[in-house]
Amino acid sequence: MPDKAATATEPSAQRSASGVEEPDRDGAAGRRAAAAPSARLDVARLREDFPILARTVNGKPLVYLDNAATTQKPRVVLDTIAAYYTDINANVHRGVHELSGRATDAYEGARERIRAFFNARSSHEIIYTRNATEGINLVAYSFVRPQLRAGDEVLITAMEHHSNIVPWQIVTDGTGATVKVAPVDDRGELQLDAFERLLSPRTRIAAVTHMSNALGTITPVREIVRLAHARGVPVLIDASQAAYHMRVDVQAIDCDFLVATGHKLYGPTGIGVLYGKEARLDAMPPFMGGGDMIASVTFDRSTWNVLPYKFEAGTPHIAGAIGLHAALDYIERVGFEAIGRHERELLEYGTQMLEAIDGVRLIGTARSKASILSFVMDGVHPHDIGTIVDREGVAIRTGHHCAQPVMERFGVPATARASLAMYNTRDELDALGRALRTVHEVFG
Ligand SMILES: Cc1ncc(COP(=O)(O)O)c(C=O)c1O
Repeated sequence: MPDKAATATEPSAQRSASGVEEPDRDGAAGRRAAAAPSARLDVARLREDFPILARTVNGKPLVYLDNAATTQKPRVVLDTIAAYYTDINANVHRGVHELSGRATDAYEGARERIRAFFNARSSHEIIYTRNATEGINLVAYSFVRPQLRAGDEVLITAMEHHSNIVPWQIVTDGTGATVKVAPVDDRGELQLDAFERLLSPRTRIAAVTHMSNALGTITPVREIVRLAHARGVPVLIDASQAAYHMRVDVQAIDCDFLVATGHKLYGPTGIGVLYGKEARLDAMPPFMGGGDMIASVTFDRSTWNVLPYKFEAGTPHIAGAIGLHAALDYIERVGFEAIGRHERELLEYGTQMLEAIDGVRLIGTARSKASILSFVMDGVHPHDIGTIVDREGVAIRTGHHCAQPVMERFGVPATARASLAMYNTRDELDALGRALRTVHEVFG
C-alpha cells in the first residue's frame, strides 16, 4: 500500500503558487482551454475537469443548471484541498514548526491570489469570511451600525438577495434609521434616476448587487458608485453572482466594500471574501472577538491586530482559502473572455428556446444580463416544474431564490430558474427544453 502522503507528492507533483503540492495542476483542461484566450472554449474537455458532471441522476446524465446556487468544483480544487490535509495540515499564524509555516504561507498565498483576482491595492484589504452573507453583516455591524442616528438611511435596490436586505433591517432596527429601496423596471433593470434621487445626506451606505441572482440583471456598478460618491455616500457591492461570470475590479469600480462567496467561484463552501478600502477597514472596530484578531489582551482591555487579521477571529477555514486559491487559478486559466463569450451564447440560445415554449414567460429581461433564465409557466407551479425536470436528470432551482421582494415586484410567488456556468452546453439546454415539454404533457 503506498503511503498516502507519498501519493500526493509523486514525481509529477508540483508546488503551486499556494504552496500546496498537488498532483496535476498544470494538466487540467482549464489550461488547454486557456492556451488561446480568444479561442472558443473546448467545453467537452473542460467538463472532464469536473468529476461530478460525469454522474447520472435518476438514471439520466446529470444536467446541472443550478449554478447560481452553487457551482461544481474542478478536480484541481478537490485535489488541492486533499493535498493540504494530507501534506501540511496545521494551524496558521501560531506555530514556529515547519507545517504551521507552510500552512500559513499557503493561506496567505491564497489571500494574495484573491487580491490579484479582484485587483485590490493591498492584501490588507482582503478579509476572509465564511461567505458573502458574513461580509455584508460585518460591514453592517462594524461600519454602519456605530454611525446610525434617527433619520439615517441605508439604500438598497429592489432586486437584492435576502443577505443584502435582512442585515440592514437588523442593524437599523430600533435606531430610527430606515432602509430605502431603489426600484427596478419591468425588465428588471435598476431605475438609476430613482436610485440617484434616493441618495440623501442621511444615506450612510448604498448596498447594491452587481448581478441579480433572481433575474440575471447586471447593474451599472461604476455609475452607481460615481453617483453615490458624488454625495459622499460609501458603497458596498455584492459581487456574489457577478464574480464568476465576469472580471470584477474593485479599483475600477471604486467601491468602498465588495463581497464574494467562494462556493460560487468554483471553490469550496464556507469561505468568502470581504474587500474593503484600507482606510475604511482601519477605522472600523472588530466584528468578532477571539484569537488572532488581537495585539494584546489583559482582563482590563484588549488591543487589536493589524489588518486584515483584526477581522479574522478564531481558526479560519484554511483549507477553504487554499481551495479557493486553486479555483481562482482555474478560472484565470480558462479566462473571463472565453467564459463570457460562451455563457452569452448559451444565454441567447436558452432564451430563444424558452420563448418558443407555449405558456413560458421569462422573468428578468434586462438588456444587460448574464447566465440566468428565470421563468414561469402558465398553470404550473414552479415546484412542479422542478420536480418533473429532476426526473429527467435536470437540476434547476425553483422558489423565491432568497429574493422574495423581487418576486413580489413581478407578481409571482416563485420562478423556475436555470442558471449557467462555464461547463454548460447547448445539449443541456435542449435537455431542459425536452423536460419542459414533458411538464406540458403532464399538466395537459
Ligand atoms: C446575489 C447574491 N448575494 C448574496 C448571496 C449569498 O451568498 P452566501 O449564501 O454564499 O453568503 C447569494 C447566494 O445565492 C447571491 O446570489
